[in-house]
Amino acid sequence: MNVLVVGSGGREHALCWAIAGSALTDKLVCAPGNAGIAALARCVAVAATDLAGLLTLCRDEAIDFVVVGPEAPLVAGLADRLSAAGIKVFGPSAAAAAIEGSKVYCKELCRRHGIPTAPFRVFADATRARAYVRERGVPLVIKADGLVAGKGVVVAASEDEAVAAIKAMFGGQFGAAGQRVIVEDCLIGEEVSFIALVDGRHCLPLAAAQDHKRVGEGDRGPNTGGMGAYSPAQALTPALQGAVMDRIMRPAVAALAAAGRPFVGALYAGLMLTADGPQVLEFNARFGDPECQVILPRLRSDILPALIGASDGMLASVDLRWRSDAALCVVLASRGYPGNHARGEAIRNLAAAEALPDVLVFHAGTARREGRLVAEGGRVLGVTALAPTLRLAQRQAYAAVDLIDWPGGFCRRDIGWRALAVPER
Ligand SMILES: Nc1ncnc2c1ncn2[C@@H]1O[C@H](COP(=O)(O)OP(=O)(O)OP(=O)(O)O)[C@@H](O)[C@H]1O
Ligand SMILES: [Mg+2]
Repeated sequence: MNVLVVGSGGREHALCWAIAGSALTDKLVCAPGNAGIAALARCVAVAATDLAGLLTLCRDEAIDFVVVGPEAPLVAGLADRLSAAGIKVFGPSAAAAAIEGSKVYCKELCRRHGIPTAPFRVFADATRARAYVRERGVPLVIKADGLVAGKGVVVAASEDEAVAAIKAMFGGQFGAAGQRVIVEDCLIGEEVSFIALVDGRHCLPLAAAQDHKRVGEGDRGPNTGGMGAYSPAQALTPALQGAVMDRIMRPAVAALAAAGRPFVGALYAGLMLTADGPQVLEFNARFGDPECQVILPRLRSDILPALIGASDGMLASVDLRWRSDAALCVVLASRGYPGNHARGEAIRNLAAAEALPDVLVFHAGTARREGRLVAEGGRVLGVTALAPTLRLAQRQAYAAVDLIDWPGGFCRRDIGWRALAVPER
């Protein structure tokens, strides 16, 4: 089978790593890829959002199956275009991807179908939104409706913060994506990423994981795309897992199908485990990043039959086996991320980190310039370690991180802290 993976981040590197190891894979192509993916797949410089270019690439490369990594091409209708061209695809239609593409659509779907989520109101003008903030009282969470690459949510501890976020969003900070704004109650609890493969009807859960969204240790500072993750997520007990499947995942899949938007792909519920049970913060319509970098290395089964099973509506007959090991991934980012940051600095000594036992280095924003590996993005590398316990995995991951020579990079030193209580030094 000739497979194309669309995207260029750590998630896509992990997907290419897993698919390259499949007995079914003949040829593996990635568009646009990155310097790490280039060791596993042929990378072709077609942007993930260039739908026409990707279709041409599929024809030129005789691609049989496409796995779409990021949300933007999905929300833009890539899966629809591929299916219309008779090319098998793992990833939801634009209509189904609206569960991520529009936070208003997501919240209203939850409310209509009794899926637990924080009380909320939707606003199309700033005046009413501000009045609601005063009436409801902080802390509150302000969310832009559309896709803004993980930067459209403000957890406001003060009225000033909430009002400033509302002003910025309606003021055009995110363009059309911020012309409708959600104001929702702030939930308290522990966050878990719950991702399942879905074939329109059936829902096959993957191992759960916990991401670290905030840039600073102790979960402080602005939100990012994710600074690290680990799996399994101890906070999600088997009983809670059952509740998530019964009260959240299956109802959401059924609701989308009933709305004529059957979901095929990876459905990712961002959950808060509150005193009242698991509640939906959001749904994403794709694998998480960096969750993918800890979930796929723990998978013992071949991933490709499962992805194809989802695309063919055959998940009921798919069974996944997992390693008992824990996995932990530390993200290395450019200094200044999630704000402005430098580009082009050399990264050295990566081979020493990769040589450590049970360590995988997944590339995100990397490139090769005159044969040298350089940092090109905000999030640049994801260093994953596997071990019998989470503490050992954390130790091994940081041992690998500390071998990497990249002065312009930084990472959080406390990935896994909630499960391990005391941060590793
Ligand atoms: N109601 C809430 N109560 C408390 N914290 C919240 C709430 N909603 C969101 N958050 C915090 O903000 C983060 C981002 O929110 P959310 O997941 O809705 O947006 P996102 O930008 O789409 O994230 P992602 O990039 O993971 O897709 C959450 O991971 C959580 O830490
Ligand atoms: Mg999201």
